[in-house]
Amino acid sequence: MSKNIVASVLNADLGCLREVCTTLERAGVDGVQWDVMDGHFVPNLTVGADVIAACRSTTMLPFEAHLMIEAPERYMSDYIDAGCETVIVHAEACPHLHGTLGRIRELGAKAGVAINPSTSLEACVHVAGLLDLLLVMTVNPGFGGQSYIATMEPKIAAARKLIESSERQIALEVDGGISPETIGGAAAAGADRFVVGSALYKSGDPAGVVKALTQSSNPSDAAV
Ligand code: DX5
Repeated sequence: MSKNIVASVLNADLGCLREVCTTLERAGVDGVQWDVMDGHFVPNLTVGADVIAACRSTTMLPFEAHLMIEAPERYMSDYIDAGCETVIVHAEACPHLHGTLGRIRELGAKAGVAINPSTSLEACVHVAGLLDLLLVMTVNPGFGGQSYIATMEPKIAAARKLIESSERQIALEVDGGISPETIGGAAAAGADRFVVGSALYKSGDPAGVVKALTQSSNPSDAAV
């Protein structure tokens, strides 16, 4: 199972996001996640689609918009137009989740659903046929630099089983507190896509961190 490392820029140097994107590409990440927050669904406020559009030309990396906002159906086309190939909405913010995911696909983007730590995987069962990505949050959303919630690992394992029974190619993504120390547990539970923020920026050597993350998520690789 190939492992994807996706960089969250939430805790990057927000004063030079264009350079951050090129640095992350050189560091070997597989994509960039934009954490979009509205100050209502989560107690933080971040980027609009125009900021993402301003960075689109700096890299060939795929962009995904993680919409931690109320009523995401109002804004998701803006993020697709800004250059996001994938749009992730929260099940908790979508009373008509099936319709919202279908609309993302109609707009030509890949559709993802995210569930918070207290939300049951049951919220995804009846929309699995519309998913390209399922995001199990391993922190309570709103801020970077939080601690990984290891008790989410049984939910990750259950999500892996749900994906296998769907017989669809659905990425199983985790987000929050992912580092070389925690990625192994998430990978062992069944995750194959990892959103990493703070851990990438702490050391000043993102390429080294990407290598450590890849090795820690594939222990067999470390032996070679
Ligand atoms: C929380 C955000 C963070 C971010 C990654 O709402 O979604 O999880 O992407 O942050 P780190 O890797 O710093 O925990």
